[in-house]
Amino acid sequence: MDPVAVVVTGLWAMLPAYLPNNVAVLVGGGQPIDAGRSWRGRRLLGDGKTWRGTAGGIMVGVVLAAGLNAIRGPVGTVVGVELPGFPPAVTVALPTGAMLGDLLASGAKRRLGRERGASVPVLDQLDFVIGALVLTVVVAPEWSGTVLSLPVVVTILALTPILHVGTNVLAYALGMKGVPW
Ligand code: CTP
Ligand code: MG
Repeated sequence: MDPVAVVVTGLWAMLPAYLPNNVAVLVGGGQPIDAGRSWRGRRLLGDGKTWRGTAGGIMVGVVLAAGLNAIRGPVGTVVGVELPGFPPAVTVALPTGAMLGDLLASGAKRRLGRERGASVPVLDQLDFVIGALVLTVVVAPEWSGTVLSLPVVVTILALTPILHVGTNVLAYALGMKGVPW
């Protein structure tokens, strides 16, 4: 696969995993998942991880994957790359894994004594993408074996932090997020 196809395939394949976190920022609020519970004097997850944000993020990611399936033919023709489709298991696994990765990282941050919103470089930028990749490999090993080749995965891991920082700075500048990470 030529380098352009690797980048295009990686970004396309991860779109349903990228969107949920941003949607959670927009729709989040209400009942926190940990229901306010603490362990050893620290919140399990904190007020930044809510049912509404998590469910909304997953739902929008699923809808996006279905939408991408519908347009992958024509878009592939325009960009000159045969884009992968998302079978049902992958459609659910990408956004769900992304949200789970973010939740796990949030729990890890609380255990490390970092308050809600504290920045932990690398973890903040890769938690959702690693969650999405791991869950997808588990539920759809065959699809993952074809689409998520080593160059594609390496490209995803290298480009995601840059894109994530960019969108978060933008969300902060627009007043949609309290901190720019
Ligand atoms: N959000 C949510 N539910 C999620 C993830 C995010 O409601 N599962 C919303 C919350 O309003 C959260 C905002 O999106 O404050 C930003 O998300 P994020 O940066 O992941 O959370 P933080 O507030 O930074 O909390 P943490 O330190 O636990 O990551
Ligand atoms: Mg955060």
